[in-house]
Amino acid sequence: MDLNIEGKVAIVTGAGSGIGACVARTLAREGASVAVVEVDAAKAQAVVAELQAAGHRALAVAVDVTDPQSVQAMAAQVIERLGGIHILVNNAGFTRDMHLVKMSEQAWDSVVDVIMKGAFLCTRAVMPWMIENQGGRVINISSRAHLGNPGQANYSAAKAGLLGFTRALALEEGRYNITVNAVAPGIIDTEAVRSLPHFEKLRAAAEKTTPIPRIGDTSDVADAVAFLASARASYITGEVLHVTGGRY
Ligand SMILES: NC(=O)c1ccc[n+]([C@@H]2O[C@H](COP(=O)([O-])OP(=O)(O)OC[C@H]3O[C@@H](n4cnc5c(N)ncnc54)[C@H](O)[C@@H]3O)[C@@H](O)[C@H]2O)c1
Repeated sequence: MDLNIEGKVAIVTGAGSGIGACVARTLAREGASVAVVEVDAAKAQAVVAELQAAGHRALAVAVDVTDPQSVQAMAAQVIERLGGIHILVNNAGFTRDMHLVKMSEQAWDSVVDVIMKGAFLCTRAVMPWMIENQGGRVINISSRAHLGNPGQANYSAAKAGLLGFTRALALEEGRYNITVNAVAPGIIDTEAVRSLPHFEKLRAAAEKTTPIPRIGDTSDVADAVAFLASARASYITGEVLHVTGGRY
């Protein structure tokens, strides 16, 4: 199936590692120019060096997605250097898990900010170009945790909030030929997940309880994102695509 992504420009936030890096590689392989937007400059550079070595067009932009001025400047830089913004993947995010009683305001604010405010700021920054050019794709990386996970009140709230954001924007921007969808992964094999103290327990539980009896690979998520970013998904908007191996 030809995804027709060739020549498009994509921004992927948090693309210095894990799912975001895999999304960047996948979109680049499909012919997109990719802006690797990442708070960690060294990680962004490493991914861009790899993409460029493979013959792809890529740009590293070191940005904290929660900082409004930097995000605006990032969007302007991508338009100037890569020629536009057809695809935005709001992927930057992290967990700060703990029981609610012990949860600091910092743990709440930092998680809600990076996931929700980050997606808001990045989407707001790219939307004028997409509207002017009558088209675009926004894909928000939520999580199966939007259904609620113990120890993740902050993260679950933020990932559920991202779905409301997705649906509201889908209604608002459809008239400009802009689709807005979410992908909700289950447990995906990334460094962030492997570094959890209970990773092996998690993996064993997933293998037992997931209809497709394994944890997910980053490419499972990246392929779903590439489809939603493609011309093949032009009549799909406001949806949540679960990439969980069937686990709910
Ligand atoms: N791995 C999983 O099992 C899983 C499951 C469901 C959802 N997700 C979501 O997928 C996304 C990626 O997760 P991952 O496992 O690849 O994590 P990861 O830690 O490997 O990647 C996240 C990247 O985001 C960057 N980042 C963090 N804060 C940022 C900020 N303020 N501005 C810009 N970049 C920032 C980090 O430096 C990192 O490179 C996250 O939103 C996560 O919540 C992951």
